[in-house]
Amino acid sequence: MENFVFYNPVKILFGKGQIANITTEIPVDAKILITYGGGSIKANGVYDQVKSALVGRNVFEFGGIEPNPHFETLMKAVELIRKEGIDFLLAVGGGSVADGTKFIAAAVPFVGDPWDILANRAPVTAALPMGVVLTLPATGSEMNTNSVVTKWETQEKLFFASPFVFPKFSVLDPETTFSLPPRQIGNGIVDAFTHVMEQYLTYPVNAPLQDRMAESILKTLISEGPKTLANPTDYHARANLVWSATMALNGLIAVGVPQDWTTHMIGHELTALHGLDHAQTLAIVLPSTLTIRRDRKWQKLLQYADRVWEIVGGSEAERVNTAITKTRDFFESVGVPTHLSDYAIGSETIPAVIKNLEKHGMTALGENKDVNPQVVEQILALCA
Ligand code: NZQ
Ligand code: ZN
Repeated sequence: MENFVFYNPVKILFGKGQIANITTEIPVDAKILITYGGGSIKANGVYDQVKSALVGRNVFEFGGIEPNPHFETLMKAVELIRKEGIDFLLAVGGGSVADGTKFIAAAVPFVGDPWDILANRAPVTAALPMGVVLTLPATGSEMNTNSVVTKWETQEKLFFASPFVFPKFSVLDPETTFSLPPRQIGNGIVDAFTHVMEQYLTYPVNAPLQDRMAESILKTLISEGPKTLANPTDYHARANLVWSATMALNGLIAVGVPQDWTTHMIGHELTALHGLDHAQTLAIVLPSTLTIRRDRKWQKLLQYADRVWEIVGGSEAERVNTAITKTRDFFESVGVPTHLSDYAIGSETIPAVIKNLEKHGMTALGENKDVNPQVVEQILALCA
């Protein structure tokens, strides 16, 4: 196992009715800004629950944060916060609202052009405190330091990570997710699954606890994902999906092990170029990454085949191939197509993705830092 430092201070309020408790988590004299997306929280009653929990508090609102949140929109919130002296942010929505709010939190005290935080890795040295009321299980943003933001003007999708943007608390009430359409539930299952794979499916470093935790999350997604799609108001199935998605990317399974993230970096460029949902890009790229990198990932692919898919019999190569096929089939089964052609995207995207990865300094990806543009080309060629 490699050396590691683990720190995660996010307080989780899990379960039915927990929104009512947010008031005790926010300083009494805070000037609060509720941030939200395109209006789903108004349709499903989450907005009303948040407003009732904050009755009597000093509350402002900023709506309209897009899926794949836009830098241009977020900067309008920064302006409002600076003008009004707001000092606490409450993100109410999915990963895009949580990520967008993390960026706002870091941008408000930032001296200079906040785009530098994303484009030039300018260090974040302070951020406004924030909380999250999560309505879409997928990204893990509610319990991690990451934020992904898109600059609409230049079609660039970039990320930053900083311990300053850990939420102070996150509410995970599975009932707030009952209103999700099937497409977003499928997306959440695929995103969480791929997060685990990026941290697990590399090479063995004698970390059996991390491996077994990762395998448990994968197996839980495989058993509970289809249940919650079939019965969207089954509280227990949804609760298990919500907690799996949080555990998939809160840092715990990443400690002491190598990480890949090739699929995510290629996926971000596909979203920036074609507007695909984040999880759609992962469903397309992950099976091809596993196939092209199978020699490097051989031991873990065999372990994955055995422990996650319970594949017995056949040669090593057959077990590896079957495990990759089962991964693809699982994504398809939860309603997320896995080929570029399913989204009417042709091979002309390959040079465009590579050019953008090069522009963003992403030319040595993967756990061995050897996924260069030539390898990305092979991966994308297999995504057709
Ligand atoms: O905008 P509203 O009206 O709220 O509608 C949203 C949006 O249209 C809707 N939605 C959310 N909760 C709902 C709901 N509709 C009905 N009922 C509910 N309860 O769902 C749509 C998608 O929302 P979005 O927040 O964009 O989805 P998701 O949570 O999948 O977030 C995706 C973003 O997170 C980034 C992605 O790149 C993408 O920008 N990621 C963030 C990560 C992180 N912070 O660690 C890691 C991930 O790998 C990912 O990159
Ligand atoms: Zn993701």
